[in-house]
Order: sequence, then C-alpha cells, then structure tokens
Amino acid sequence: MSVVYDPFAFETQHNPYPVYRRLRDEAPVYHNPDLGFYALSRYHDVLAAHKDPATFISSRGVTLEGVEAGQDLLITKDPPRHEWHRRIVSRLFTPRRVGGLESFMRERCARLLDPFRGEPGFDAVEDFSIQLPLAVIGELLGIPESLRQEVHHLADRLFTRDESGTVSEDAATAQVELATLLYGVVVDRRRNLGDDVVSLLITSEVSDDAGNAWHLTDEELSTRVLELAFAGHETVARLVANGLVALWWYPDQRRELTANRALLPNAVEEMLRWDAPSHYQGRWTSTDVELHGTTIPAGRRVILVTGAANHDDRVFDEPELFDIHRRADTIVSFGYGVHFCLGAALARLETRVAFDELLNRFPDYEIDESRVVRMRSSNVRGLATLPLVLT
Ligand code: HEM
Repeated sequence: MSVVYDPFAFETQHNPYPVYRRLRDEAPVYHNPDLGFYALSRYHDVLAAHKDPATFISSRGVTLEGVEAGQDLLITKDPPRHEWHRRIVSRLFTPRRVGGLESFMRERCARLLDPFRGEPGFDAVEDFSIQLPLAVIGELLGIPESLRQEVHHLADRLFTRDESGTVSEDAATAQVELATLLYGVVVDRRRNLGDDVVSLLITSEVSDDAGNAWHLTDEELSTRVLELAFAGHETVARLVANGLVALWWYPDQRRELTANRALLPNAVEEMLRWDAPSHYQGRWTSTDVELHGTTIPAGRRVILVTGAANHDDRVFDEPELFDIHRRADTIVSFGYGVHFCLGAALARLETRVAFDELLNRFPDYEIDESRVVRMRSSNVRGLATLPLVLT
C-alpha cells in the first residue's frame, strides 16, 4: 500500500517517525492531492530546497494552514525584501546581548523550580518550560511582566488546530487580541525608549540595496514583535519538554549528563535532532522542479520536512536512537540558509541553562504517562502537559 502522510492526523502527530521513514524510502517527492501539498523528506533534498529560496519561496505561506501568508512577517518575505528586513533584526541578537541573559535565565529557573523541592511533582510544561522562555523573550523585548502570561495564552489559542487543520474563530480572535496587545507595547515604548529590542527596532532603519532607508511603522513593528514573541517562547518550551522525555527514556544518559555537564551542549544538539519542535517549513514553487523522476509544477505548496531529514539514515547512523555523544552538527532543526533561525543561539543557551538547573535540583524524575497531553499542531511538535513525578 502506498504511503499516506497526513500531518493533521493525531496518530501522525503522536509518532510521525514511522511514516517519515516510509516517505524517505518510498516517496521522496511525496504528493498529497487531497491536502494540496508535496513533501520532501530526505536530508539532502530538504537542505537543497532551503538553499534555493528563489525556487522555494516563502511569501505564499510557510505552514499548511497558510494563515500567515500575506502577513508582514520576516518568515514570509522573499529576497531581496527579506534581506533588508532581516538585517536589522539579526543585529539585535548579538552574542553579547544573548550571553548577557544567562544570569537572568538562571535566576528565573531558581524562581520557577525551587518551590517544587520536596514536592511530589509538577507540570514541566506549564510550570517551567513555557515560563522560562516567556520570561526571557519578555525581558529581551521589554514586554512588561504583567502582560507576559496573556501573551502566552493568546499564542496558545492562536496556534490550536483541530484534526482537519481548520483555523477556528477563537484562533482568529486571539490573533487580533495579540496584535492589539503588542501594538500597545510598541506605542508605549515609542514614548519611553529603553535598551530593549523593541526600542532598538523603533530607532533602526531598514535600508534597501539602492541605499534608501526608512523606519518601520507601528503596525510593522508590532508584527515583528509578535513574530519574535511567538518564535521565542513556543519553540524553546517544546524543546525542553521533548528533551525531558528523551532523558527519561534513556536514564543512563541522564545520569551521565548529570555527572558531566560538559556534555550539555552536545546533548542539546541531540535533543534538537531527535525530536525537534518545528517539523516542517512550508514553501511554494516559483517554477517547475524535477526531482527523483517527479515534476513538482510551479505554484505548488511543498513542505520541507526537517523532522524527517533529521532522522535520515543516509546521514545519521541509527537515527531513531537518542545519543548525547552523537556528532549532530548537521541538524536542520533551525532551518537553513536565508531564513535560518535568528534565535538559534538564544534557544541553545536557554535549553542548556534549563537542563543544567533542572538536573541540579531533580536529577531523578519519572513521567506520569497517563496524564501527558500532546499539542495539536501540524508542524509544532511538543507537549501541552508533561507531569514530572519527583523521586
Ligand atoms: C528550539 C527553539 C527554536 C527552533 C527549533 C526554531 C526553529 C526555527 C526554524 C526551523 C526557522 C526557519 C523557518 C523557515 O525557514 O521557514 C526559524 C526561523 C526564525 N526563528 Fe526560530 N526557532 C527556535 C527559537 C527561536 C527563538 C528563541 C527566536 C527569537 C527570539 C526565534 C526567532 C526566529 C525568527 C525571527 C525566524 C525567522 C527568520 C527569517 O525568516 O529570516 N527562534 N526558527
């Protein structure tokens, strides 16, 4: 029977890896006419498509739902406009600015985790993995503490989908509410400029290749902030929880990591490879593409399934095994090329700190599998609830 890949099916979301293997081996240029997409799943095909933004364009949307198409996001811009706008955002993520957040991260971990010492357990997602990146991105952007929980709840509502992938009325309302909230932050910051990222975006100029330069409007600024706020907290939150699951399945590696923290950077890379938070990046073809004897016509949606590419046994030995000693410097979990994740260094640091602080306090934990809840999303892979039982 030929392989069927439905990223909206809960069964696929629960464990997509068997279907990914079949895609790579049996249908490297997979076509799903019912859902209207092609999928590339082999590592080298995914990488090549990421390197060719002229053929695989982003401006018609990067998810299967396509709700972001037409929005003024970085992620949905194509060169050369993309490059003009990306330049000013990339200047904000300097190693100094990112590294400077480490003590804030550690202090926040202590505040979040210390209350659970001596307790029977806690929800690693709602009590920790969401809260840490939310605080960090809030700090970086200068979103007042009082508004951060609301940003999180609105972002959650915004990205919730049912099994058909339909965007509910509630998700649409949440998007408007989030945009309004962040617009308020921008307007307020314009009156009280500080050293935060929003203030820097307000004062930065976008410049094109002809040397023209201009400032972003308040609407553009709030969209950019929305993009950063969402990208900066949802993904790290999922990675930390997925990593906790990995270390629960592989307790020997957890013990090794607890004893030797020098292994943490590589362990984080392996967490990113083994169960990445973002499973595909959507594109549309600008021209016919011929690959493995199949033609993808111009004007078709193609998803680059990085979640499958990271498990390609043409590149990774025994890819389904989690191994903190694996050399995983080829992972594509942050995408590749012109849209490569701007927050990758921040995400890596946050995840390292999160595990360092978690293992300091709770080197032994169990997971109450009966209460684990998976997020429902076609491309964000992660858990909504992860009950840790402290032993
Ligand atoms: C584990 C955490 C993260 C993962 C797995 C992740 C993943 C990704 C991926 C796969 C892309 C490429 C999308 C594409 O090619 O269409 C991307 C882009 C992006 N990410 Fe991340 N991300 C993470 C954390 C962050 C953080 C912490 C921030 C910001 C503070 C951030 C900001 C962005 C931005 C702004 C883009 C758009 C870049 C562009 O289009 O030029 N990400 N991310």
